[in-house]
Amino acid sequence: MNPPPGQAAPVQISRWHPVADAQALRDEACARILELARQALAERGVFRIVLAGGGTPRDVYRALGEAATDWSRWQIWFGDERCLPPDDPERNSRMAHDAWISRVGVPDAQVHPIPAELGARSAADRYAALLAPVGDFDLVLLGLGEDAHTASLFPGQDWGSEAHAPAALPVFAAPKPPPERVSLSALRLSRARAVLFLVAGMGKRDAVRRWRRGEDVPAGVIRPPGGVDVLVEAALLEEAGV
Ligand code: 6PG
Repeated sequence: MNPPPGQAAPVQISRWHPVADAQALRDEACARILELARQALAERGVFRIVLAGGGTPRDVYRALGEAATDWSRWQIWFGDERCLPPDDPERNSRMAHDAWISRVGVPDAQVHPIPAELGARSAADRYAALLAPVGDFDLVLLGLGEDAHTASLFPGQDWGSEAHAPAALPVFAAPKPPPERVSLSALRLSRARAVLFLVAGMGKRDAVRRWRRGEDVPAGVIRPPGGVDVLVEAALLEEAGV
Protein backbone atom coordinates (compact mmCIF):
# COMPACT_ATOMS: atom_id res chain seq x y z
CA MET A 1 0.00 0.00 0.00
CA ASN A 2 1.51 3.31 -1.02
CA PRO A 3 1.92 5.96 1.68
CA PRO A 4 0.10 9.29 1.35
CA PRO A 5 1.80 11.67 -1.12
CA GLY A 6 4.98 13.11 0.32
CA GLN A 7 5.24 10.44 3.01
CA ALA A 8 7.81 7.66 3.33
CA ALA A 9 6.77 4.02 3.32
CA PRO A 10 6.30 2.42 6.77
CA VAL A 11 9.08 -0.09 6.18
CA GLN A 12 12.11 -0.23 3.93
CA ILE A 13 11.96 -2.61 0.98
CA SER A 14 15.54 -3.35 -0.08
CA ARG A 15 16.90 -5.28 -3.05
CA TRP A 16 20.58 -6.21 -2.74
CA HIS A 17 22.67 -6.64 -5.88
CA PRO A 18 26.16 -8.10 -5.29
CA VAL A 19 28.77 -6.94 -7.80
CA ALA A 20 32.20 -8.45 -8.34
CA ASP A 21 34.33 -5.38 -7.65
CA ALA A 22 34.53 -1.58 -7.85
CA GLN A 23 34.62 -1.62 -11.65
CA ALA A 24 31.50 -3.77 -11.82
CA LEU A 25 29.79 -1.45 -9.34
CA ARG A 26 30.74 1.53 -11.52
CA ASP A 27 29.43 -0.09 -14.68
CA GLU A 28 26.19 -1.34 -13.10
CA ALA A 29 25.50 2.01 -11.44
CA CYS A 30 26.13 3.90 -14.67
CA ALA A 31 23.85 1.58 -16.62
CA ARG A 32 21.05 1.91 -14.06
CA ILE A 33 21.33 5.70 -13.88
CA LEU A 34 21.22 6.09 -17.67
CA GLU A 35 18.26 3.70 -17.98
CA LEU A 36 16.32 5.61 -15.33
CA ALA A 37 17.20 8.83 -17.14
CA ARG A 38 15.97 7.37 -20.43
CA GLN A 39 12.65 6.39 -18.86
CA ALA A 40 12.18 9.74 -17.10
CA LEU A 41 12.99 11.75 -20.21
CA ALA A 42 10.60 9.63 -22.27
CA GLU A 43 7.77 9.86 -19.74
CA ARG A 44 8.21 13.35 -18.25
CA GLY A 45 10.80 15.18 -20.32
CA VAL A 46 13.08 15.79 -17.33
CA PHE A 47 15.37 13.68 -15.14
CA ARG A 48 15.67 14.79 -11.53
CA ILE A 49 18.64 13.19 -9.78
CA VAL A 50 20.14 13.63 -6.32
CA LEU A 51 23.88 12.94 -6.07
CA ALA A 52 25.73 11.07 -3.37
CA GLY A 53 28.92 12.46 -1.89
CA GLY A 54 32.04 10.76 -0.59
CA GLY A 55 34.50 8.75 -2.65
CA THR A 56 32.56 5.75 -3.94
CA PRO A 57 30.54 7.64 -6.57
CA ARG A 58 33.58 9.36 -8.12
CA ASP A 59 34.28 6.63 -10.69
CA VAL A 60 30.57 6.45 -11.52
CA TYR A 61 30.54 10.20 -12.15
CA ARG A 62 33.66 9.92 -14.30
CA ALA A 63 31.93 7.23 -16.38
CA LEU A 64 28.83 9.43 -16.73
CA GLY A 65 31.13 12.07 -18.20
CA GLU A 66 31.53 9.77 -21.20
CA ALA A 67 27.83 8.93 -21.55
CA ALA A 68 25.40 9.93 -24.29
CA THR A 69 22.10 11.35 -23.02
CA ASP A 70 20.18 14.60 -23.35
CA TRP A 71 22.02 16.50 -20.62
CA SER A 72 19.93 19.59 -21.34
CA ARG A 73 17.02 17.93 -19.55
CA TRP A 74 18.82 16.78 -16.41
CA GLN A 75 18.21 18.54 -13.07
CA ILE A 76 20.88 17.81 -10.45
CA TRP A 77 20.60 18.21 -6.69
CA PHE A 78 22.83 17.00 -3.85
CA GLY A 79 21.93 14.68 -0.98
CA ASP A 80 24.31 16.41 1.39
CA GLU A 81 27.16 18.86 1.52
CA ARG A 82 30.04 19.74 3.73
CA CYS A 83 30.18 23.29 5.12
CA LEU A 84 33.31 24.32 3.22
CA PRO A 85 34.02 26.98 0.58
CA PRO A 86 32.42 26.18 -2.79
CA ASP A 87 35.72 25.41 -4.49
CA ASP A 88 37.12 23.32 -1.66
CA PRO A 89 38.25 19.95 -3.07
CA GLU A 90 36.49 18.24 -0.16
CA ARG A 91 33.09 19.58 -1.24
CA ASN A 92 30.77 16.94 -2.66
CA SER A 93 29.64 19.43 -5.33
CA ARG A 94 33.26 20.09 -6.34
CA MET A 95 33.93 16.35 -6.66
CA ALA A 96 30.91 15.84 -8.93
CA HIS A 97 31.76 18.95 -10.94
CA ASP A 98 35.37 17.94 -11.56
CA ALA A 99 34.64 14.25 -12.23
CA TRP A 100 31.58 14.74 -14.46
CA ILE A 101 29.37 17.82 -14.57
CA SER A 102 32.03 20.16 -15.96
CA ARG A 103 32.47 17.74 -18.88
CA VAL A 104 28.84 17.54 -20.03
CA GLY A 105 26.15 19.96 -21.12
CA VAL A 106 23.88 20.24 -18.10
CA PRO A 107 22.91 23.94 -18.00
CA ASP A 108 24.37 25.66 -14.93
CA ALA A 109 20.87 26.73 -13.86
CA GLN A 110 19.94 23.07 -13.62
CA VAL A 111 22.73 22.14 -11.21
CA HIS A 112 21.71 22.98 -7.64
CA PRO A 113 24.58 22.80 -5.15
CA ILE A 114 23.73 23.17 -1.47
CA PRO A 115 25.04 26.62 -0.40
CA ALA A 116 26.82 25.02 2.57
CA GLU A 117 29.42 27.80 2.61
CA LEU A 118 26.69 29.91 4.26
CA GLY A 119 26.71 27.70 7.33
CA ALA A 120 24.56 24.68 8.11
CA ARG A 121 21.38 26.36 9.33
CA SER A 122 21.14 29.07 6.68
CA ALA A 123 22.03 26.62 3.91
CA ALA A 124 19.50 24.04 5.10
CA ASP A 125 16.74 26.67 5.19
CA ARG A 126 17.62 27.92 1.70
CA TYR A 127 17.85 24.44 0.21
CA ALA A 128 14.55 23.40 1.77
CA ALA A 129 12.94 26.48 0.19
CA LEU A 130 14.53 25.61 -3.16
CA LEU A 131 13.12 22.09 -2.94
CA ALA A 132 9.62 23.16 -1.88
CA PRO A 133 8.19 23.29 -5.43
CA VAL A 134 10.14 20.23 -6.57
CA GLY A 135 8.19 16.99 -6.71
CA ASP A 136 9.50 13.49 -6.28
CA PHE A 137 13.01 12.86 -7.48
CA ASP A 138 13.49 10.33 -10.24
CA LEU A 139 16.64 8.93 -8.64
CA VAL A 140 18.46 9.42 -5.35
CA LEU A 141 22.03 8.16 -5.15
CA LEU A 142 23.36 7.40 -1.68
CA GLY A 143 26.50 6.04 -0.07
CA LEU A 144 26.94 4.16 3.19
CA GLY A 145 29.34 5.01 5.97
CA GLU A 146 31.08 2.55 8.29
CA ASP A 147 28.60 3.54 11.03
CA ALA A 148 25.70 2.98 8.59
CA HIS A 149 25.20 6.71 8.02
CA THR A 150 23.95 7.86 4.66
CA ALA A 151 24.07 11.34 3.18
CA SER A 152 24.86 13.29 6.36
CA LEU A 153 22.35 11.46 8.53
CA PHE A 154 24.42 10.05 11.36
CA PRO A 155 23.57 7.66 14.22
CA GLY A 156 22.27 9.42 17.31
CA GLN A 157 21.31 12.57 15.42
CA ASP A 158 18.14 13.89 13.78
CA TRP A 159 17.37 11.96 10.59
CA GLY A 160 14.25 13.89 9.65
CA SER A 161 12.16 10.76 9.12
CA GLU A 162 8.99 12.04 10.80
CA ALA A 163 5.90 12.93 8.77
CA HIS A 164 6.52 16.65 8.45
CA ALA A 165 10.30 16.74 8.61
CA PRO A 166 11.93 19.62 6.75
CA ALA A 167 13.49 18.78 3.38
CA ALA A 168 16.98 19.74 4.55
CA LEU A 169 18.64 19.52 7.95
CA PRO A 170 21.61 21.35 9.49
CA VAL A 171 24.24 19.00 10.94
CA PHE A 172 26.66 20.37 13.54
CA ALA A 173 28.46 17.39 15.03
CA ALA A 174 29.10 14.97 12.20
CA PRO A 175 31.56 12.25 13.28
CA LYS A 176 32.88 12.25 9.71
CA PRO A 177 34.73 15.54 9.11
CA PRO A 178 33.85 18.24 8.59
CA PRO A 179 31.51 18.36 11.57
CA GLU A 180 29.23 20.98 10.02
CA ARG A 181 27.17 19.78 7.10
CA VAL A 182 23.77 19.95 5.45
CA SER A 183 21.74 16.85 4.61
CA LEU A 184 18.48 16.16 2.90
CA SER A 185 16.19 14.57 5.45
CA ALA A 186 15.29 10.90 5.36
CA LEU A 187 11.76 11.95 4.46
CA ARG A 188 12.87 14.04 1.46
CA LEU A 189 15.37 11.42 0.31
CA SER A 190 12.50 8.91 0.40
CA ARG A 191 10.40 10.99 -2.00
CA ALA A 192 11.92 9.29 -5.00
CA ARG A 193 10.87 6.93 -7.75
CA ALA A 194 14.18 5.11 -7.31
CA VAL A 195 16.93 5.07 -4.68
CA LEU A 196 20.29 3.49 -5.45
CA PHE A 197 22.90 2.88 -2.74
CA LEU A 198 26.52 2.44 -3.82
CA VAL A 199 28.39 0.39 -1.21
CA ALA A 200 32.06 -0.57 -1.46
CA GLY A 201 34.87 -1.07 1.04
CA MET A 202 35.32 -3.87 3.57
CA GLY A 203 35.20 -1.35 6.41
CA LYS A 204 31.45 -1.24 5.88
CA ARG A 205 30.74 -4.88 6.65
CA ASP A 206 29.46 -4.08 10.16
CA ALA A 207 27.23 -1.35 8.75
CA VAL A 208 25.87 -3.76 6.13
CA ARG A 209 25.32 -6.42 8.78
CA ARG A 210 23.42 -4.08 11.07
CA TRP A 211 21.37 -2.66 8.22
CA ARG A 212 20.41 -6.11 6.91
CA ARG A 213 19.52 -7.26 10.41
CA GLY A 214 16.96 -4.43 10.52
CA GLU A 215 18.70 -2.43 13.21
CA ASP A 216 17.71 1.22 13.52
CA VAL A 217 20.35 2.81 11.32
CA PRO A 218 20.17 5.86 9.03
CA ALA A 219 20.44 3.82 5.81
CA GLY A 220 17.39 1.85 6.94
CA VAL A 221 15.05 4.83 7.21
CA ILE A 222 15.28 5.76 3.54
CA ARG A 223 11.88 4.33 2.58
CA PRO A 224 10.69 5.25 -0.90
CA PRO A 225 7.42 3.59 -1.93
CA GLY A 226 9.24 1.52 -4.57
CA GLY A 227 12.01 0.34 -2.24
CA VAL A 228 15.75 0.82 -2.48
CA ASP A 229 18.35 -0.96 -4.60
CA VAL A 230 21.77 -1.59 -3.10
CA LEU A 231 24.81 -2.23 -5.30
CA VAL A 232 27.31 -3.87 -2.96
CA GLU A 233 30.63 -5.62 -3.45
CA ALA A 234 29.97 -9.37 -3.22
CA ALA A 235 32.89 -9.97 -0.84
CA LEU A 236 31.58 -7.29 1.50
CA LEU A 237 28.12 -8.83 1.52
CA GLU A 238 29.62 -12.26 2.23
CA GLU A 239 31.75 -10.87 5.07
CA ALA A 240 28.67 -9.24 6.57
CA GLY A 241 27.27 -12.74 6.91
CA VAL A 242 23.57 -11.95 6.90
C1 6PG B 1 29.96 12.47 2.58
C2 6PG B 1 28.90 11.56 2.04
C3 6PG B 1 28.77 10.34 2.89
C4 6PG B 1 29.36 9.20 2.10
C5 6PG B 1 29.62 8.00 2.96
C6 6PG B 1 30.42 6.96 2.17
O1 6PG B 1 29.78 13.69 2.57
O2 6PG B 1 31.00 11.93 2.95
O3 6PG B 1 27.76 12.15 1.81
O4 6PG B 1 27.45 9.99 3.25
O5 6PG B 1 28.44 8.84 1.06
O6 6PG B 1 30.38 8.43 4.08
O7 6PG B 1 31.64 7.57 1.79
P1 6PG B 1 32.64 6.77 0.82
O8 6PG B 1 31.89 6.57 -0.47
O9 6PG B 1 33.82 7.69 0.66
O10 6PG B 1 32.96 5.46 1.49
